[in-house]
Amino acid sequence: MGNDLRNKADNFRDKTVMISLQSVSKSFPRSQETLPVLNHISLDIYQGEILAVLGPSGCGKTTLLRQIAGFDKQDSGSVRMDGQEVVKPEVKRMMIFQDFNQLFPWKTVLQNVLFPLQVNRIGESDAANREIALQYLQLVELSGFEDSYPHQLSGGMKQKAAMARALALQPKVLLMDEPFGSLDALTRLSLQDLLLKIWQETGVTIALVTHDIQEAINLSDRIAVMGRRGVAGFKEIIPNLLDRPRVVGGGGYSEIYAQVYSLMDFRNENE
Ligand SMILES: Nc1ncnc2c1ncn2[C@@H]1O[C@H](COP(=O)(O)OP(=O)(O)O)[C@@H](O)[C@H]1O
Ligand SMILES: [Mg+2]
Repeated sequence: MGNDLRNKADNFRDKTVMISLQSVSKSFPRSQETLPVLNHISLDIYQGEILAVLGPSGCGKTTLLRQIAGFDKQDSGSVRMDGQEVVKPEVKRMMIFQDFNQLFPWKTVLQNVLFPLQVNRIGESDAANREIALQYLQLVELSGFEDSYPHQLSGGMKQKAAMARALALQPKVLLMDEPFGSLDALTRLSLQDLLLKIWQETGVTIALVTHDIQEAINLSDRIAVMGRRGVAGFKEIIPNLLDRPRVVGGGGYSEIYAQVYSLMDFRNENE
């Protein structure tokens, strides 16, 4: 097993770097002082991988994803995609949020997926955009709900619609901020399965933020563990080499769980 692990870990070195963070730092003003959140974070995200970013509440996971998305500018360091500095949000990096209310409430599911396709002129005609939208609604298993409004959907279905809307733009990278964090446990597992299916079918690169160790293990190729807010760098970036599909209690599962658990810092974020 030891040798095998090393060989597989070596494979990552041959992979193409899609996004590269070099020593990214970010602080926020708080009353009279500044609050350091990201402290010299360096990370390569490889083409086609699922990277899980795991850390306790308040450690800076969302802040990190926002820098990668281009929503927010780091104080120092750089974020690059395909060698170019990230300075603004772009269609090639789509972000999905934890919040169930990220859809337009006055638009149907189909209209929600169609809207960014039209704005970005992805298809050559309205009919072409409609085809693309329907195709991605099928991918996320929402066929039959095209004409429903967001308030008529369950939380899980809203997250599926958000995924369809993002994926329809054919981003190279999907940035997911605890997308299943507010779902019940069974729905969460089923959406994890769906995400893996989508990943296999589209080959999209995924960076997924979570505070759920099992979700990180179930989904990822690597797990980047953050320390508490302001701690320098990642605590560790662990290759996750378990065979897929991964089942709790399957070979190697408890070992990697214990490894990740031992790195998690559960102390109160406000101390
Ligand atoms: N725009 C902001 N202004 C001020 N403080 C912020 C801002 N965004 C995040 N923070 C602070 O940064 C810390 C990390 O936040 P966040 O990235 O949301 O953590 P996580 O997603 O890991 O729970 C928190 O203490 C939060 O209050
Ligand atoms: Mg967050």
